[in-house]
Amino acid sequence: ELVYILNGPNLNLLGKRQPEIYGRETLSDVEAACRETAATFGLDIRFHQSNAEHQIIDWIHEAREAACGVVINPAAFTHTSVAILDALNAFEGPVFEVHISNVHKRESFRHHSYVSHRADGVIAGFGVDGYTLALRRLGALIASRRD
Ligand code: DQA
Repeated sequence: ELVYILNGPNLNLLGKRQPEIYGRETLSDVEAACRETAATFGLDIRFHQSNAEHQIIDWIHEAREAACGVVINPAAFTHTSVAILDALNAFEGPVFEVHISNVHKRESFRHHSYVSHRADGVIAGFGVDGYTLALRRLGALIASRRD
């Protein structure tokens, strides 16, 4: 079974971008950690990042056919994108939203998330560990549906 892990704008710069907020690990480090965690649940992952909203929407559409769950860090699109929310509403499996930083501790424009209207769970402020934590929850959910 396949899980999509999707990352929004500027996360290609993870590790270099505002490390005091987002840490020094890179997106490839995150991908490696996710692959390892997914394997312990017998899951495969597609791990993607894009700075383009339409690309993220297209991956969510692809996930409708291909994936049993989605983990998404929509980055700045979290706070702006009804289109990503609509795409996720067309996806039937579990969706977990991840933010590396604690968005609630930051500027008020980061306090609202369109994606949270759909997400089954949200993690914020656990650094990049949020990805593997979300994946663990997803793995357990999917395993419970198998029996
Ligand atoms: C982020 C938080 C967003 O507010 C911000 O725009 C990002 C990253 C996070 O992972 O903490 O780019 O989603």
